[in-house]
Amino acid sequence: MHFHIITLFPEYFDSPLDCGLMGKALEKGILEVSRINPREFTRDRHRTVDDRPYGGGPGMVMLLDPLVQALNELPSGCRKVLLTPKGNPLDQSLAARLAGEDDLALVCGRYEGIDARLEELFDLELVSVGDFVLNGGESAALCLMESVARFMPGFLGRQESAGEESFSSGLLEYPHYTRPEEYAGLKVPDVLLSGDHGRIAAWRRQRSLENTFRLRPELLTSPLLTPEDLDFLQGLQRTRPGRNLYLALVHHPVKNKMGQESTTSLTNLDIHDIGRVCATYGLGKYYLCTPLQDQQVLAGRLLRHWREGSGAQANPDRARALSGGEVVSSLEDAVENIESLTGRKPRVVATSASGNGDLDCSQVLQCLDEDPVLMVLGTGYGLSDRIVQEADNLLAPLRLLGGYNHLSVRSAASIIVDRILGDFA
Ligand code: ADE
Repeated sequence: MHFHIITLFPEYFDSPLDCGLMGKALEKGILEVSRINPREFTRDRHRTVDDRPYGGGPGMVMLLDPLVQALNELPSGCRKVLLTPKGNPLDQSLAARLAGEDDLALVCGRYEGIDARLEELFDLELVSVGDFVLNGGESAALCLMESVARFMPGFLGRQESAGEESFSSGLLEYPHYTRPEEYAGLKVPDVLLSGDHGRIAAWRRQRSLENTFRLRPELLTSPLLTPEDLDFLQGLQRTRPGRNLYLALVHHPVKNKMGQESTTSLTNLDIHDIGRVCATYGLGKYYLCTPLQDQQVLAGRLLRHWREGSGAQANPDRARALSGGEVVSSLEDAVENIESLTGRKPRVVATSASGNGDLDCSQVLQCLDEDPVLMVLGTGYGLSDRIVQEADNLLAPLRLLGGYNHLSVRSAASIIVDRILGDFA
């Protein structure tokens, strides 16, 4: 593999390419690196490589011509990467794919950036090493080179270490330990001293799964998960604090079409569907809040039919779904009920299709570790302003963009709960 680095600072790479595994790989000829400085292609007295941006603004922009000439020096068929914060994120699978190339050019921007027309003139693949801004593409290019080089045969001492690393299996790595067996009272896990290779491999796999589940759950969609992995992950999922999450479906005070405070009637569909969400995600309870006596009687009858009556016999799954439902007169009653069940006052989080929420779903998940959370959903045209003002927080609306914004309350409940407690949330 031959890296062609296009940079205004070729000397930047001196020491990183001189030491450690990169240095050895260059010595052994596993890697080759050439550096092309666009400044070499300037013709003016000052060897100018940048100029002020059209349209004004701070900083300087890299000139096209020196870069074009530098890129024209590349061998034909050379894949070209431009390091930029707007690029696709560099990850292990991209590194593995790039490792298949014979020639790879890395274009490093400096200053405010590069004249945008370079991307029209050349087939450049934009790559970022993270959502932060560096002084230039050089340190990003070093990250990319190192991650790619590790896939080259002979680069690592023992070939298997590349496959066992974090991300290679789609998972984070298991923890490592070395001597001494005990340090400051902290012991190496017994299993690692057992000499039982089967048990050690199983322990390591589970720690990998656990680290990934807790730190980067979004990686767990990997198709490489075995049935044993899924069993183990299901066990972890059950330890999640879903039980701490409660829903309240408020029928009063809510807004009517004219924005006035009013009361709505219960809806059979909401009661069933929100119950099914609660059972699926293992929520604590859901409260049907209505001050109307006849509505309370109706809801009580409906819940009894499905939980105890002929409905329960015909459909035990539905009995389970509705088992978390409870009829209360007001939101205050729901709060009191949670307090008496858990001994803790719940954090009350109002929801709205619009407005400036001060909490998002991932923050709600963090709150659940400390206190119960009562997520308050409005029927009709949404919760009355009074409820929103008195709540501890307002959840950020599900859809900030887009004109039409009228999800049914049961749809909104499903989306909110999945964003908080979904398998890969
Ligand atoms: N150049 C400046 N910031 C960068 C980043 N985050 N990734 C890649 N190239 C960059």
